[in-house]
Amino acid sequence: TLKTTLAGYKFDNCMMNAAGIRCATVTDLAGLRDSRAGSLVTKSATPQPRDGNPEPRMRGLQYGCINSMGLPNHGFDYYLNFLLEEQKSHPQQTNFMSIAGTTLEDDLSMLKQIQESAFAGLTELNLSCPNVPGKPQVGYDFDAVERYLTAVFAFFKKPLGVKLPPYFDLMHFDQITAILNQYPLAFVNSINSVGNGLMIDPESETVLIKPKGGFGGIGGAYIKPTALANVRALAQRLNPGIAIIGTGGVQNGMDIFEHILCGASMVQVGTQLGFEGPKIFNRLSQELTRIMAAKGYDSIADFRGKLKTL
Ligand code: DHB
Repeated sequence: TLKTTLAGYKFDNCMMNAAGIRCATVTDLAGLRDSRAGSLVTKSATPQPRDGNPEPRMRGLQYGCINSMGLPNHGFDYYLNFLLEEQKSHPQQTNFMSIAGTTLEDDLSMLKQIQESAFAGLTELNLSCPNVPGKPQVGYDFDAVERYLTAVFAFFKKPLGVKLPPYFDLMHFDQITAILNQYPLAFVNSINSVGNGLMIDPESETVLIKPKGGFGGIGGAYIKPTALANVRALAQRLNPGIAIIGTGGVQNGMDIFEHILCGASMVQVGTQLGFEGPKIFNRLSQELTRIMAAKGYDSIADFRGKLKTL
C-alpha cells in the first residue's frame, strides 16, 4: 500500500503535486483531484490576484527547468473557495493550501482568514519563493523565520507547515532546525527550487527566461541530490512530531522511494508533473508499488527514514 499519515491525517497515496505545478486554476486542480495523487496543494496565494513576471518565465530542458513566475495567481479567495468546495464534494481527501505573501503582514492576514474559515486541511506557508524582484527568500534569513513563526503561532491553531529553500551547509541545518523545533509545526516541506540558477542558450548567446536578467529557480533532475540531502538532514534534526514532505527531482518511482528512505512521509512532484501532467501519478504509483514488492515492503512506514550509512 502507498498510504501515508502526516500530522494525524491519512492519505491514500503518498504522492502529490508540488505547489505551483498544474494547480493555478480550478481546472488544473480538478485534474489533480481526479488523479491517483493522494492530495493536492494549491498555487501559492497572495491576498490579491497577481499577473506575475513578464514572459517567457519558465523553460524546460532535458534535465529540468528554470522558472521565474513571480507568483502569478488568482488570489487568496479563489483558492480558499475551491478548497471549501472540495471539502463538501470530496470530503474523503485532505488538501493543502499554499500561501506566499510578499510581506509578513500579507501572510498574517491570509492566515487569519484561514483560521476563521471552515478550512479543515493543512496550510503550507511558503518561506522560499525566489522570484519576486526585491524580495529575498525568508528561509535564508533565520531571524526572519523566527519572527514569522512567532507571529503566526501567536494565533494560528490549525495544522501548519513551512516550505523551505534548500540549504547547503550542515551548520545551516543545525540553525534552521533549532528554530523550527520551537514551534508546533505539522510538517516541513523541503525543498523549493534551487534559487537563482541561470540557463543559457549558447547558440544565440542568450538567457532562457526574461525576468531578473534570466535568473530563476531550478527544478528537476538537477536538484535531486540537494533535495535528498535536505530531507535527510532535516529528518535527523527535527522533533519527531514534525513530518517531512520531500520535494525535488522526482521523475520515477525510485526517486520517491529514495525520498522516503531519507525520511519523507509524503513526496511532491513538480517539474516532471509539469512535463507529463496528472496521469504521471499512475506511472509513479505502479513503479513505487513494484519497487516495494521486490524489496518485500508492505507499507512506506517499513522503510521511511531507514537509510543506511557506511
Ligand atoms: C514562485 C516560485 C516559487 O518557487 C515559489 O515557491 C512560489 C512562487 C513563482 O515564481 O511564482
